[in-house]
Amino acid sequence: MEQLLLCFLLFISCFSHANCTKDQPYNAIISFGDSYADTGNFVSLVKGVLPYDVFEHLPYGMTYFNKSTGRGCDGRLVVDFIAQNLSLPLVPPYFSKGQDFHTGVNFAVIGSTALSLEYFRQRNITIPATDTSISVQLGWFNQFKTSICNTTDSCKDYFSKSLFIFGEFGGNDYTFVLSSGKSISEVKSYYVPVVINATKEAAESLLELGATTIVLPGNLPTGCIPIMLTLYASTNKSDYDHLGCLKHYNTIGYYHNIKLREAVVQLQLKYPKAKIIYADYYEPVIKFLKNPDKFGELFVINGDINYK
Ligand SMILES: *[C@@H]1O[C@H](CO)[C@@H](O)[C@H](O)[C@H]1NC(C)=O
Ligand SMILES: *[C@@H]1O[C@H](CO)[C@@H](O)[C@H](O)[C@H]1NC(C)=O
Ligand SMILES: *[C@@H]1O[C@H](CO)[C@@H](O)[C@H](O)[C@H]1NC(C)=O
Ligand SMILES: *[C@@H]1O[C@H](CO)[C@@H](O)[C@H](O)[C@H]1NC(C)=O
Ligand SMILES: *[C@@H]1O[C@H](CO)[C@@H](O)[C@H](O)[C@H]1NC(C)=O
Ligand SMILES: *[C@@H]1O[C@H](CO)[C@@H](O)[C@H](O)[C@H]1NC(C)=O
Repeated sequence: MEQLLLCFLLFISCFSHANCTKDQPYNAIISFGDSYADTGNFVSLVKGVLPYDVFEHLPYGMTYFNKSTGRGCDGRLVVDFIAQNLSLPLVPPYFSKGQDFHTGVNFAVIGSTALSLEYFRQRNITIPATDTSISVQLGWFNQFKTSICNTTDSCKDYFSKSLFIFGEFGGNDYTFVLSSGKSISEVKSYYVPVVINATKEAAESLLELGATTIVLPGNLPTGCIPIMLTLYASTNKSDYDHLGCLKHYNTIGYYHNIKLREAVVQLQLKYPKAKIIYADYYEPVIKFLKNPDKFGELFVINGDINYK
């Protein structure tokens, strides 16, 4: 499963963007995505089903919560920083019991894909997870909706005051497609357009239901992600860039983001009254790798992990 250990603080440019007002404009955050956004769904969903209890122990949660929370991260996720910045409670996972979802709900699941399990099965691509893909998360959202609003108008009213964060999606799809033996160029020419289409269609369905602000985060530099560096480690130095990333793999995330921005522009043209915002998750990671000291470099003393 991808992206379990990578959870940097990433920046969403919206909050310094002219589109965004200074006043508190949102009553709730509604989040979808994978491990970059999951605040605890995965651990609830797999409890007693899969032997993945790693997220229930330190180092997960170590640097902020001082206990594991089900985040695939040692600290906070992007969605946590956004919630805190908007003075909203941290966004509760949909599958946690007894939560109040009136200020937000999170449908993201570690390992989630844009495309369905069935899509991969039909192409003999193995994915080591149950189906928590975009369409499944939208199904949960539709269920959730009935507890929040009853009529088209009341839903529109509620969602117009919600901040939707949709993604990142795609990173896991590409990991699974690559591990099934497809080439980087096939990922770009064939799978990126399908993933972008699924993402765009889903965002559009939220806009149709009344979402008026939706953030679409892009992919990270694929070749800088630990799982890629592990699976595709090379003895040929020229496969790496000056930051130690696998440069050919980086082109996947880069290309995905170009296509996602095109989709965002198309949605903006179709829904001119909505704020549809592309969030860059690519360049911040490059910045972290260039200047880790500026962001709190991790170091290990006698087996203990510490931060500067
Ligand atoms: C973190 O948790 C541990 C174990 O539960 C506890 O001993 C420690 O005091 C906590 N540290 C802080 C800073 O809360
Ligand atoms: C939210 O972020 C903005 C822009 O970085 C900053 O000016 C503001 O102080 C933050 N607000 C809170 C409550 O963290
Ligand atoms: C998937 O694998 C099965 C069994 O090996 C084979 O019959 C089928 O043609 C394969 N399908 C694709 C799309 O490769
Ligand atoms: C929706 O309608 C049902 C039945 O009229 C009612 O019990 C429920 O409280 C309503 N839910 C909301 C969120 O208004
Ligand atoms: C785009 O996505 C929609 C909804 O998931 C699907 O019905 C349609 O077939 C997709 N189109 C392409 C070209 O993949
Ligand atoms: C290393 O990779 C470069 C370009 O990717 C290639 O031109 C070169 O032949 C490779 N060297 C070896 C020893 O495989």
